[in-house]
Amino acid sequence: MDNDLQTVQISEGIYWVGAIDWNLRDFHGYETPKGGSYNTYLIIDEKITLIDTVKAPFFEEMLGRISQIVDPSKIDYIVSNHVEMDHSSSLPAMMEASPKAKLVCSAKGKKGLYEHYREMGFEKWDIQVVKTGDEISIGKKTMQFIEVVMLHWPDSMHTYLKEDRILFSNDAFGQHIATSERFEDQVEGVMEDAQIYYANILMPFGKQVLGYAEKVKQMGLKFDMIVPAHGVIWRKEPERIIESYVKWANAETKPQVLIVYDTMWNSTEIMAKEILEGVQSAGVDVKLRNLRNNDWSKITTELMDASVVAIGSPTLNNGMFFTVAGFLSYIKGLRPKNKKFFVFGSYGWGGGAVKGVEKELIESGFEISEPGLQVNFRPFEEDRAKCREIGKRLASLAKE
Ligand SMILES: Cc1cc2nc3c(=O)[nH]c(=O)nc-3n(C[C@H](O)[C@H](O)[C@H](O)COP(=O)(O)O)c2cc1C
Ligand SMILES: [Fe+2]
Ligand SMILES: [Fe+2]
Repeated sequence: MDNDLQTVQISEGIYWVGAIDWNLRDFHGYETPKGGSYNTYLIIDEKITLIDTVKAPFFEEMLGRISQIVDPSKIDYIVSNHVEMDHSSSLPAMMEASPKAKLVCSAKGKKGLYEHYREMGFEKWDIQVVKTGDEISIGKKTMQFIEVVMLHWPDSMHTYLKEDRILFSNDAFGQHIATSERFEDQVEGVMEDAQIYYANILMPFGKQVLGYAEKVKQMGLKFDMIVPAHGVIWRKEPERIIESYVKWANAETKPQVLIVYDTMWNSTEIMAKEILEGVQSAGVDVKLRNLRNNDWSKITTELMDASVVAIGSPTLNNGMFFTVAGFLSYIKGLRPKNKKFFVFGSYGWGGGAVKGVEKELIESGFEISEPGLQVNFRPFEEDRAKCREIGKRLASLAKE
């Protein structure tokens, strides 16, 4: 075992013992150009507690860090705030290494862990199920639990250390970044990374986010630190991240037009650029994103802010282009709110893309600003002028 593994004391008796995934570039399908981390924390009190575990390939690393501070067999509690495998897949090995540990999780957490690990020792685990408001004293410190159903899984839970006013929020308030720093105030641009994370993971759960903010107020919780399981810790006015979540959950948009498209022989691209010209000429902020050259996780974040979205697709084999189909499927699940859509594209003979995209958008509950524009093969000046006019109309719509 590596004896030089760094642990970081984040507060009196509380240590970061997780792992940094420097080379992570894809987190279950979405791009993570800055890497990621799985944060776990060791609390040394009369009872010794581990909050969450890491993704399985990093188990030895976590165990090495824990061992710098305490013999892992001395651990009394292992809190599992979330069943998803980035936080639980080293639980079977950790329970072996800490034979006297009690596993603490929500009722839905217990069920979820059974469905993952019933062939990996689950039956032997000593499990204590907790619900919102339940407390466990570990000596000078007290853990209080808050179930956060569908933030973002049914089993999700937060652990609040009352005396220290530290919230272990697991996935909520995280960011996918790999850094040697552990605190938000030591790293540039964390709020942007937190928004990318929100857009791609939490966007469908705006109602739950607002409910959560309300519950925290009712419970009168105050925070000295908000400690997510991914990325860095919020310690400078930590409520800022909850306020941002509330703002994002309210789906406030900016007067911005986002043009998302793909193209085979660049006819649809010419249309996209003329629409861009039209929007620009009206003095409105506009972005142009080809689906094959841009991270979808980034496009999705920009989509969150935009009040108008234009989607362009050529016709391929009677239907929309496959990246456009994939993107529609992705955003349908994320359910972005407060936007108007417009569809355009080039075709050769029967067409089908523009109608297909419109049908898909309407069926997904999105609003279309006006009937889409199809151009046969190359867009000539007449078509280009139409695109610029549309751009102007989209610009005034974005300002409304
Ligand atoms: C492999 C392939 C399949 C196509 N299938 C159709 C089709 O089924 N129906 C149609 O109207 N056009 C079809 N087209 C024609 C394109 O839609 C047309 O070339 C269009 O101008 C392409 O726009 P783009 O330059 O933005 O890619 C096809 C083109 C290619 C290359
Ligand atoms: Fe998760
Ligand atoms: Fe996670």
